[in-house]
Amino acid sequence: LGDEEDAFGHLLLDALAGRAGEPLLERDDGHVGPALEAAVFFREPHDWAAPERRAFAHVEGRVLDIGCGAGRHALAAQAHGHDVVAIDIATGAIQVCRQRGVRDARLVAVADVDEQLGSFDTVLMMCGNAGLAGSEADTVTALATLHHITTAGARIVLDSVDPYLDPDEADIAYLERNRAAGRMPGLVTIRLRYSERVTPWFDLLCLSPAELHQLAGRAGWTITWLERDDPDFYAVLHKR
Ligand SMILES: C[S@@+](CC[C@H](N)C(=O)[O-])C[C@H]1O[C@@H](n2cnc3c(N)ncnc32)[C@H](O)[C@@H]1O
Repeated sequence: LGDEEDAFGHLLLDALAGRAGEPLLERDDGHVGPALEAAVFFREPHDWAAPERRAFAHVEGRVLDIGCGAGRHALAAQAHGHDVVAIDIATGAIQVCRQRGVRDARLVAVADVDEQLGSFDTVLMMCGNAGLAGSEADTVTALATLHHITTAGARIVLDSVDPYLDPDEADIAYLERNRAAGRMPGLVTIRLRYSERVTPWFDLLCLSPAELHQLAGRAGWTITWLERDDPDFYAVLHKR
C-alpha cells in the first residue's frame, strides 16, 4: 500500500505514539460506522476474550501470522518460544511490529504467501482474517496454499464473524444483494478511513461455522475445535 492508502498502518503508528484518533469503516452500500479502536490491536493476552485465549492455546511450533496488525499474537507466540513470521500489507503495521519486538515481520499479502516463507506448524488468521483472501474461490485457494506450506499435523487458528447473527436492516439487504449477485452472502466490500488516509476497497469474507466447514473441507482442512462468542466464533482447523 502507498503511504496515502496506509490508513490502518497510520492508525497503529499513532496508537503506538499515544495519539490514535477514530478510524471509520466504510461499506460499498454507503454504510459508514466506527471501526475497531486501535487499542484492541495492542491488547495483551489477559485482555483477550476467553475463547480467543483458548483458541490461541492450540498454537504450536513455527508460526505464520497472516495480517498481523500490531503483532499482538506474534508477540504472544514469541513469548511462548515459538519462531514466528508475521506478515501484513500495511507498511505502518510492519513498522509497529518491528518496534514492538516482532523479530520477523514482513510486508507480504495473503495472496503472495508461498513456500518461500518456509514451512509452518501453525497459521494464525485472527480478527476476521480467515476471510482476508476475499471471494469464496480465493479463500479456498488461500487455504489450499496453507495446506501446501504446512507440516503434517499443522493447524490454522482463526476467527470470523457469523454474518447471519444479529444483522440489522442494512446488513440483511447487503446479504440479499450478495445472494442475488451470486456472491457469498457474508462477502463485504469495505475500506478503512483514518484521518486523511483511506485504504483501497477490499473484500472480506465473513463466514458462518457451517460455511467455514464447507470451504475448509474443499482445501483439505477440517474443523477440530470451535467456540462461539456471538456473533464471533473461534476455530482450529487441522489437516485431514
Ligand atoms: C483487523 S486487522 C487484524 C490484526 C491482527 N490479526 C489482530 O488480530 O490484532 C487486519 C489486518 O490485516 C491486514 N491485511 C489486510 N489485507 C491484507 C492482505 N491482503 N494481506 C495481508 N494482510 C492484510 C491489515 O493491514 C490489518 O493489519
